Amino acid sequence: MNYKAASSRYDKMEYKRCGKSGLLLPGVSLGLWHNFGGVDTYENGRSIITRAFDLGVTHFDLANNYGPPPGSAEENFGKMLKQDLHPYRDELIISSKAGYRMWDGPYGEWGSKKYLISSLDQSLKRMGLDYVDIFYSHRPDPNTPLEETMGALDQIVRQGKALYVGLSNYTAEQTQKAIDILNDLGTSCLIHQPRYNMMDRWVEDGLLDVLEKNGVGCIPFSPLEQGLLTNRYLKGIPEGSRATRSVFLQENDITEEKIQAVSKLNDIAQNRGQSMAQMALSWILKDKRITTVLIGASSVSQLENSLACLENTSFTSDELSKIEKILAS
Ligand SMILES: NC(=O)c1ccc[n+]([C@@H]2O[C@H](COP(=O)([O-])OP(=O)(O)OC[C@H]3O[C@@H](n4cnc5c(N)ncnc54)[C@H](OP(=O)(O)O)[C@@H]3O)[C@@H](O)[C@H]2O)c1
Repeated sequence: MNYKAASSRYDKMEYKRCGKSGLLLPGVSLGLWHNFGGVDTYENGRSIITRAFDLGVTHFDLANNYGPPPGSAEENFGKMLKQDLHPYRDELIISSKAGYRMWDGPYGEWGSKKYLISSLDQSLKRMGLDYVDIFYSHRPDPNTPLEETMGALDQIVRQGKALYVGLSNYTAEQTQKAIDILNDLGTSCLIHQPRYNMMDRWVEDGLLDVLEKNGVGCIPFSPLEQGLLTNRYLKGIPEGSRATRSVFLQENDITEEKIQAVSKLNDIAQNRGQSMAQMALSWILKDKRITTVLIGASSVSQLENSLACLENTSFTSDELSKIEKILAS
């Protein structure tokens, strides 16, 4: 069936400036790490992506290795672009990354100029694009000079293969150094993509300050701790859930202590009139230094549920201290 975007797509979504840049991003962005690969049902992915766009989600996040198999999420997204989203290319912010192992040999991972530039060329081919909106160094490389990695990002922008560049998984200190190098080269760092959620709060220890000081945006990934910070596992491990089908979330990660904490958090969420997922996302978005949260979804209903977090992103001090107590226990 031919897709035509909903004319109401910009009615409700709020867009926020990414750091000090000119770019506005939706309050919630969607990532294609899981559920959009060659092993997944294409039509399910397609309905999630088109529904997201209909609800004002303009930002879709990919990486060279998303799948499985690696590369297949970009291939599938390329197919959706061709089939459905092509007329809306100028309404979309599409990102990709390179850093993790993508092909054999010494040039298939980390942060050399050789790898980053070849990898982006491959990503563009898979998606059928002339350029991505944001290209990330997916992880810092301890064995490549930061000047080389940042030089590659600068070159990519100058070649017109990406409009903006970002960093992912860099520590606060590495981020400041990378920002300085990029500034010297004349290409500013748009955004940082760190892991951040109620159960993993390392960014509060310096990174968010560095981003604010430098006017760089922040897009936390795995804001739902891959599904743990939702009602998904409150009554056991459902068949087909990520914990049953991904190496990145194992059944033994779903511990009794975590479920007890989530169950208490869920009571607070219910009192706020939110689902657990919505409260976990709102809790991240309450910090003004956060530009957007980068969620995953395996169904349209999860997507719709998560997006509704934007209806309430403020917390009373009582709610916050109750949440802190649960997280500290
Ligand atoms: N830069 C990096 O190094 C890096 C690393 C990881 C991820 N990322 C990016 O971040 C994106 C999001 O990561 P993530 O998928 O781990 O995010 P997440 O939002 O923490 O987890 C998504 C999973 O949570 C469950 N879920 C989502 N919404 C739900 C809801 N409303 N109610 C109940 N369960 C719900 C689903 O699990 P089920 O599948 O079990 O249904 C879904 O697959 C990725 O796609 C990728 O773009 C980046």
